[in-house]
This record gives sequence, structure tokens and C-alpha cells, in this order.
Amino acid sequence: MTDDARMVGGGRRRDDRENIALRPKFLRDIVGQDSVRENLQILIDAAKSRSEPIDHVLFYGPPGLGKTSLAYVIANEVGVNIRITAGPSIERAGDLAAILTHLKQNDILFIDEVHRLGRAVEEVLYPAMEDFVLDIVIGKGPAAKNVRLNLPRFTVIGATTRLALLAAPLRDRFGAQFRLDFYDLPAMEHIIRRAADMLKIEIKPEGTTEVARRARGTPRVALRLLRRVRDYAQVRAQGIITGPVAGEALALLNIDHLGLDDVDRRILTLIIEKYGGGPVGLETIAAAISEDSATIMDVCEPYLLQLGFLARTPRGRTATPFAYEHLGFTPPTSPNEGQQSLF
Ligand SMILES: Nc1ncnc2c1ncn2[C@@H]1O[C@H](COP(=O)(O)OP(=O)(O)O)[C@@H](O)[C@H]1O
Ligand SMILES: [Mg+2]
Repeated sequence: MTDDARMVGGGRRRDDRENIALRPKFLRDIVGQDSVRENLQILIDAAKSRSEPIDHVLFYGPPGLGKTSLAYVIANEVGVNIRITAGPSIERAGDLAAILTHLKQNDILFIDEVHRLGRAVEEVLYPAMEDFVLDIVIGKGPAAKNVRLNLPRFTVIGATTRLALLAAPLRDRFGAQFRLDFYDLPAMEHIIRRAADMLKIEIKPEGTTEVARRARGTPRVALRLLRRVRDYAQVRAQGIITGPVAGEALALLNIDHLGLDDVDRRILTLIIEKYGGGPVGLETIAAAISEDSATIMDVCEPYLLQLGFLARTPRGRTATPFAYEHLGFTPPTSPNEGQQSLF
């Protein structure tokens, strides 16, 4: 199963298109992420008062937490054009050169999955970000000439789920770097209420809480669960989402009260049953449950780590006593059973 097929994966799915309408437009529409919001406000206000482009910004964190949304919000707040691209789609240095030469003063270039830019493309990006110049080679062989073009002053906003994979020189060129964290329950409830209002969905406060609790602190997951629960309510409960209706709908989707789905449970069960609690390497886990290791690392692990169900050690992943209890196993008591290092 790919991330695409998962209800609780933070990655994008086709039915997320409706989200575009729900995307926050201004900083005041952003719920949660208080420190990021405050810092962005300062960055934007300062740049506006100097009539300069804002500094290059990097957002990192698990999928579905609002990196792309924040890039759009910044463009709206500053009142400039935003050009959207992604690391894997800029294949050659020439592709990037073409994008850069079409930018206007103060424009924003949003590069999603910025850790996936190729080496040659990065080499073009460095001087562009630092000195707003483009070094190109014209002609071939001995007649080739280096030409330096001036670019308008622009802003790069990068987003990545894998900060560790970002080349250090590239990372250094982002003057402002923000880590997005999972949202707390009140923020999740707020996001669900706002979406329900906009989509004209009738949801009771207990229904909101029920969906919020199972949405893994991730707005994209919350919006997705809300739609599934709406379907269920329409077919089985006159369209009104109460607490019990939301609970039944989500139980039917095999999403438990903490938001874990089959994939999460298979990972933990594997570590506990087959490997005595771990440590187990990521690739071993991925092969054993036939999941993509990138999905496990980007989507499952951050949430399981946050819940305190999983720990990362140099020798691999281990399941914690909380995970044992949640899945109905008895945690090992003697230090010789399971993983010794943790308890
Ligand atoms: N802080 C927020 N407040 C309200 N809605 C949000 C917030 N962050 C994200 N969303 C919603 O969640 C969805 C996913 O956000 P997105 O920016 O695409 O995440 P990312 O780029 O980090 O994967 C968006 O459609 C947006 O409507
Ligand atoms: Mg995104």
C-alpha cells in the first residue's frame, strides 16, 4: 500500500483537491504554530517596510502540516507572485535557469521537496540565492564562454520532509528556517470546525473532538477524516456528525482512538512479536510489512515517536512499553527481555 492509499497518511491524495479552497490565505487564518506565525509576521513586516524581498525561507517537518500553505500565505501577505515547483521536476540546470530568468522583482519561487534537487541544479541555485546572479555557459568546447546574468531580487521558499537530506550549503542559504510541529488538540478542533463551516457540514462539538483526536496532529489528515465521516453520517445518520457517529465511522476505517491505522499497528506488532521489542532496522521493517521505507520514515515514524510508542536507537527502532500496552501486549519486565536500553 502506498502512502496515497492511506487514510491517515500525511501525503497528498486525489480527494485532497477540495483542500485548496480550505487553504488558509493570510497569516490570521493559520491556526496553531504560534511561534512560526509570529516570526513570519516579523519577517514579512520588516521586508515590506524596507520594500525588499523577504529572506529565503525553509519549512521542514512531516507531510500535511502546512508547509505549502504557508508559502502561499507569505505570497499573499507580501502581495507578490508565487511560482510553484518541486525538486524532482527541475531535472537540468537549464530548467532552473529558465524559471529564474522569468521571475520578477520580489517574486517567490516555492520549491517543494527541495532535498531532491540534483547536484547540477543546486550549483546554479547557490549564486542565484546568494548574489542574484545566473552563471551560464554559452557554446561548446573551446569556444564556450561563461556569462553572468543579473537576476531580479527574489525569494526562495523551500519545503522538505527530510531536513537531513538537504545539502549543507543549500540549507545555509536559507536565512529563515522553521520546523513545523504536530498540532495540539485545540488547534486541530479549530481547523476541523473551520473546514466544517466552509463545507457546510453539520458537526457537533463531540464529533469535532473525536475527529481531532484521531487525526495525528496533522491538518491534512483531519480534513480527510472529516470528509469520510461526513459520508458516513450522510448514509447512516441523517448527515449530522455527533461524537458516536464520528467514532463509528472512524472505527469502520480501522483508525483507532489515537489515530493509528493498520500500517502503524503492523510496524509495532512486527517489532514486538518478531523482534522481541527491537532494535530492528528500518529496511527490515519495510520489507517485512511490504511498505515503502520512505513512507514509514516520513509519515508513520514521526507520529509514533511523538506518541512515545517508538524509539530510534543507533541499531534500529524499538517499541516502548506504551506501544505494548496500546496493542494489548504485556511489556517485558526483566531487563533481559526485549530492549534493555530503555527500561
Ligand atoms: N495551520 C493551518 N490552519 C488551517 N489549515 C491548515 C493549516 N495547515 C495546513 N492546513 C490545511 O491542511 C492541508 C495540508 O497543508 P499543506 O500546506 O499542503 O501541508 P504540507 O505542504 O506541509 O504537506 C491544506 O490543504 C490546508 O488547508
Ligand atoms: Mg506541501
